[in-house]
Amino acid sequence: MTTALPPYLITALPQISTPAYVVDMALLKRNMAVAAHIRATAGCRVLLATKSFALPAVFPLMRESLDGTTASGTHEARLGWEEFGKEVHVFSPAYTPDNLAELLGFSDHIYFNSADQIRRFLPAVKAIGPDMKVGVRINPGYSRATLGGHLYDPCSPRSRFGVLRKDLESLPWDDIDILHVHSLCEALHDGSVGLIDHVAREFAPCIRRVRAVNFGGGHFINKSGYDVEALIRAIHDFRSAFGVEVILEPGSGLVVDAGYLVATVLDVVHNETDVVILDTSASCHMPDVLEVPYTPPLFGAAKPGEFPHTCILAGNTCMTGDIIGEYSFEKPLKPGDRLVFGDMLQYSFVKNNTFNGTPLPDLALLHEDGQCEIVRRFGYDDFRGRLG
Ligand SMILES: Cc1ncc(COP(=O)(O)O)c(C=O)c1O
Repeated sequence: MTTALPPYLITALPQISTPAYVVDMALLKRNMAVAAHIRATAGCRVLLATKSFALPAVFPLMRESLDGTTASGTHEARLGWEEFGKEVHVFSPAYTPDNLAELLGFSDHIYFNSADQIRRFLPAVKAIGPDMKVGVRINPGYSRATLGGHLYDPCSPRSRFGVLRKDLESLPWDDIDILHVHSLCEALHDGSVGLIDHVAREFAPCIRRVRAVNFGGGHFINKSGYDVEALIRAIHDFRSAFGVEVILEPGSGLVVDAGYLVATVLDVVHNETDVVILDTSASCHMPDVLEVPYTPPLFGAAKPGEFPHTCILAGNTCMTGDIIGEYSFEKPLKPGDRLVFGDMLQYSFVKNNTFNGTPLPDLALLHEDGQCEIVRRFGYDDFRGRLG
């Protein structure tokens, strides 16, 4: 990413103590306007997947454009219920009687992953009354995850996700309100439209038995190159063909390219190449860099060899593999330099850990007037609290 930093971010940088995740409020508003447009024009519901991004400080802004949240378990569901409001959908591969009982107090849509889970827990869900909606996740057999190969493909061979086509007849369709498919990851419109068309073609008898179809997450609606109008047309056609409601539950697509991780250079050591140690960490603060893996975009830097000074950027932990990536710069880096990684909101701070006692980065909002507001600064108590 050789792009220069936006001027308002350059102005704000001296106010930011590092490491810090910074939400760019102007860019988040731009993303939310796209979600609002899809929702209004396609006539569908759009939920925030809080597994990807959950920052209560910006929920008031997001709430204006969305219908609610979707959670992966009890704590996320409670967060959505108490802090976001509106609808709370929950999907978990498997529930226990205890966590289902808890979830029923914090949600209004429960999705099941297997016929057996439905059989065991449907009576408890139905006892709540007609306002509690029931969904079933099916495996649509549509593999189009663009990231991480099988790691992020719910339809990969031997995947645990979703009722298989051969088992669909055994489901208690009279008690099921929503058909759920989630099979995309960072998909552009061809993935979203392809999934919608595939489900329409392959699962029409099931669609006719429900009131709504949830096309899951992975719709990268705010990524440059995503044709939002193509998605809107596909949803429109689907709704006209089947007369059902449509739900989308993106996480990444709502916050993509709307925030940063700001770090400082601590030291530069030399071992065949310059290795630059930062006050952040791939293992603790950017786990997807190692898991996917990928090299995050960095303002003012280019691929190795493109600028005169190539170096490795590394984290400040004991793990040898705590490497963020190899980049090149116009000038050599030195202690005290600030670096700004781009596209750092999804699956970043929600997945943080404090390995080595590494401090958690600040959470901050960069407002449109250039003011930077610290939402949360973490300390020793946050580390100690998790150790019993
Ligand atoms: C069931 C479900 N819904 C929604 C999402 C959100 O996906 P994304 O953040 O890629 O949009 C995920 C991600 O794993 C998911 O598993």
